Amino acid sequence: MSTPGSGPSGRGTGTGPGTGIRLHAPAPGWALEADVVVVGSGVAGLTAALRCAAAGRRTVVVTKARLDDGSTRWAQGGIAAALGEGDTPEQHLDDTLVAGAGLCDEQAVRMLVTEGPDAVRRLIDSGAVFDTSAETGEIALTREGGHHRRRIAHAGGDATGAEISRALVQAVHAAGIETVENALVLDLLQDAEGRTAGVTLHVMGEGQHDGVGAVHAPAVILATGGMGQVFSATTNPSVSTGDGVALALRAGAEVSDLEFVQFHPTVLFLGPDAEGQQPLVSEAVRGEGAYLVDADGVRFMVGAHELAELAPRDIVAKGIMRRMQEQGVQHMYLDARHFGAAMWEQRFPTILAACRAHGIDPVTEPVPVAPAAHYASGGVRTDLSGRTTVPGLYACGEVACTGVHGANRLASNSLLEGLVFAERIAADIAARAPEGSGPGIPVPATGPLQPAEARYEVQRIMTEGAGVLRSAESLRAAADALEGLYAAALGELEAQGKTAVPGVDTWEATNLLCVARVLVAAALRREETRGCHWREDHPDRDDAAWRRHLVVRLSETEKRALVVTPTDTADLPSVRPSRQPSSQEQ
Ligand code: SIN
Repeated sequence: MSTPGSGPSGRGTGTGPGTGIRLHAPAPGWALEADVVVVGSGVAGLTAALRCAAAGRRTVVVTKARLDDGSTRWAQGGIAAALGEGDTPEQHLDDTLVAGAGLCDEQAVRMLVTEGPDAVRRLIDSGAVFDTSAETGEIALTREGGHHRRRIAHAGGDATGAEISRALVQAVHAAGIETVENALVLDLLQDAEGRTAGVTLHVMGEGQHDGVGAVHAPAVILATGGMGQVFSATTNPSVSTGDGVALALRAGAEVSDLEFVQFHPTVLFLGPDAEGQQPLVSEAVRGEGAYLVDADGVRFMVGAHELAELAPRDIVAKGIMRRMQEQGVQHMYLDARHFGAAMWEQRFPTILAACRAHGIDPVTEPVPVAPAAHYASGGVRTDLSGRTTVPGLYACGEVACTGVHGANRLASNSLLEGLVFAERIAADIAARAPEGSGPGIPVPATGPLQPAEARYEVQRIMTEGAGVLRSAESLRAAADALEGLYAAALGELEAQGKTAVPGVDTWEATNLLCVARVLVAAALRREETRGCHWREDHPDRDDAAWRRHLVVRLSETEKRALVVTPTDTADLPSVRPSRQPSSQEQ
């Protein structure tokens, strides 16, 4: 398999402004100028912003809610890196490749694991405080699924993301980086050659910038996080509506591996109809010795995998689902009563509080758990410098598909990936002379906006048809229902010239439908079971046919219908460098 980014491809370049598809929105009423605009404020976005600013680039961060409101804040378990005595990047690489079920890009993983330890040290230099061992004073390390060693650094017990977020937000303020909060990014601005010229965005509420505006910049870094809200129940916050992937698709970028949605095995079960963001019960709880049991107290993962409850996440999620099916029940249990109150309070205060808030006391009773959507292993396809197939558009963090995760992300590799690839992007930008950008050429909106209620329809359809366990039948039903939503809105637009009123709810619903359609198209196409893609009608992994990626672009010809064309290829085309070096650099 070739490495993305190893040479020019010409795809996504010189074709004008992407697919020509844009969201219906008012014309920008205000504008900012920058060298780099970072969209998103999790670990990836804020790290990229800090490094770009340190390299002297005028950097603007735009984020959908407050700076600390993204997915990073919710990360519990920690950040994986070979920091412990006797551990090596090579061992971390092995565990990552095994979890990725044959689809990781080994070169990308090698960069992750070798650059990771120093990236974590730089994060500590930025102010993040990790838990340390009382005996040695060294960073305390725990285990999670798929790791053969203790290599997960954590903070505040189980509040790792919150601490990282706190430290980075503080560092961004201290560096004087301009930030625009409550800003939903709409579309990429591109020049006549298809090169990035900035973004349009909508700022909600009162402030210095209000309504639809633009940030003009020749480099845009997407760090918008995930798309967990395409499902009814997810660990993701409500802002995770796939905005970055949808924007990138409309801009003509390629996305890859979208079918690989990771379902976290142990999400607090709050009833079969629970919707929206659900409390996570970190894998680190199992890393510290909790057991998965059924209602009879049987440890059903023992014997199912050499690592039992600490098998890679996809295997544990499947083990739980199988047991639930066999027994006709809706959840299993996580038993950590043996930790005792003191350990629960010190090591897992966030989870303890969440469980108790829902009337469950893990100190005295097993915790009901079931899988829920957690992480998009795929996303906007990038090369090893985070460059997408659109010149000047970068992606890092959950929105990106760097090749690191393959078919199933190894636990706690996501914060590390955000750090490492954000730094790689900043280095790529810093190596190029700053260039101005024009305002971008206007692209008329095509395709309808979805009504706000479509969000819940998409979630219901996806949960029924494209959840943990999938089949051709369930996926076809989902695809038809999603197309029905699209066709209804399109019909209204064509017959009456009407579409839903532009606004946050309708833009989000339109983005959710866009990513759901692509996800289902890819999942339908992949006729095998691999990593976190589980097909009951194709229960085996099929390396001969499917050790390959599904790359999707929106069709440039079928603009109105937003047709997606999954392309299976074992030999991924390379990504063209975003900009040629300027004459000063040559
Ligand atoms: C967890 O703490 O279980 C989640 C960590 C991750 O998703 O990597």
